[in-house]
Amino acid sequence: MDLTKRPLEHELDPIETATRDQLTAVQTRRMAWSLRHAYENVAHYRAKCDAVGVNPGDFRELSDLAKFPFTAKQDLRETYPFGSFAVPMSEVVRIHASSGTTGKPTVVGYTRADINMWASVMARSIRAGGGRHSSRVLVSYGYGLFTGGLGAHYGAEGLGATVIPMSGGQTQRQVQLIRDFEPDIIMVTPSYMLVIADEMERQGMDPRACSLKIGIFGAEPWTGQMRGALEQRLNIDAIDIYGLSEVIGPGVAQECIETKDGLHIWEDHFYPEIIDPATGAVLPDGEQGELVLTSLTKEAMPVIRYRTRDLTRLMPGTARTMRRMDKITGRSDDMLIIRGVNVFPTQIEELVLRDERLAPHYQLEVRKDNHLDHVTVKVEVRHGLTDASAGPAAAQALQHHIKSLIGISTTVTVMNEGDIERSMGKAKRVVDLRPKP
Ligand code: DLL
Repeated sequence: MDLTKRPLEHELDPIETATRDQLTAVQTRRMAWSLRHAYENVAHYRAKCDAVGVNPGDFRELSDLAKFPFTAKQDLRETYPFGSFAVPMSEVVRIHASSGTTGKPTVVGYTRADINMWASVMARSIRAGGGRHSSRVLVSYGYGLFTGGLGAHYGAEGLGATVIPMSGGQTQRQVQLIRDFEPDIIMVTPSYMLVIADEMERQGMDPRACSLKIGIFGAEPWTGQMRGALEQRLNIDAIDIYGLSEVIGPGVAQECIETKDGLHIWEDHFYPEIIDPATGAVLPDGEQGELVLTSLTKEAMPVIRYRTRDLTRLMPGTARTMRRMDKITGRSDDMLIIRGVNVFPTQIEELVLRDERLAPHYQLEVRKDNHLDHVTVKVEVRHGLTDASAGPAAAQALQHHIKSLIGISTTVTVMNEGDIERSMGKAKRVVDLRPKP
């Protein structure tokens, strides 16, 4: 075997740089298949189509997709656990499930071909993020029913990189493995990366001097300010990766290290639309709205017009032919409406990170006082800050900035280092203490 010949080392998948027309032709052909596959094999989706009088024969070009009904999380709940599968269970080789904060988890299934497709888009993602055959990849996304760990694992192996399957948690051990195994790439939620960096410092290790060069961060919203903070603190390139279990897992869209200008959606497998969340109308590229995704090649569980609840906009391709999506502002589910003002946790994050005196850990608590919603922003003072007056001064400044830039009154509570609950995976940014309706 000639180990110097490493085809993936320099080459992209040809479709990544195909012309837009070539891509459209592939999408149209695959979409026709996917619509038919879902219609013929998923009774629940067929019934939805029949109810509005549309069938796969009505699809001729991509714009015809708008005639088809959406799929929402509720549809997957109604068919729990396996009713959205389009193949016999004997063809399903893997099941994942999302935790489901409300009610039953959402179950997703994969055929052998689905697993291979997922591994190939993940390999493509890691490569776009700067990974190569020669990379050593620490996977610190959780393994298990969550798609993060295994998705990253198969992708990194597919690329030919060396995988360290650490999973989330055991933070001291994460640091030890970074020290001893010297990975150059870490795949982890951005919030847990901060926890690992804190632990490095606690162990007397300089995060900037560690072996890591690239972080492939996703599974939760994070801002440009957070990118700056992570890059500065760890001396790495911080790259965004997006995905969701219902559509495949991580690897739906990925930022390219050479441009860092939004995430290229792997449009040959996942077709994006942006809709007005209130009316369901398709919006033109460039306009902000809810991302809707249709799987083009998935066998076990095709999803047609899946409403992600994630808010973003579509932009033309740059480093690749495929369109990009902007960093996710937040999920419509996470949007707080405080006395009529819409607020996302990411807006608060931007302001927290601007203040040198504050640590990048934060949480919002919402409660009802005299029938009105009130937000308390909990933040921590930065490590090593000795000036006792710095905390209260930072609290006052943050409160003022939130009022003048976002337009809501809040109470800012500055806490001691470590007082805000840490997560080993997705951070919990909002604690809603309002009585349930
Ligand atoms: O979080 C898959 C994943 C794993 C993506 C690892 C990236 C890295 P779910 O648990 O189903 O799947 O959660 C999906 O997480 O609808 C978004 O709201 C959010 N999300 C995922 N990636 C990003 C990102 C995985 N890069 C939900 N930026 C999605 C913002 C993200 N939000």
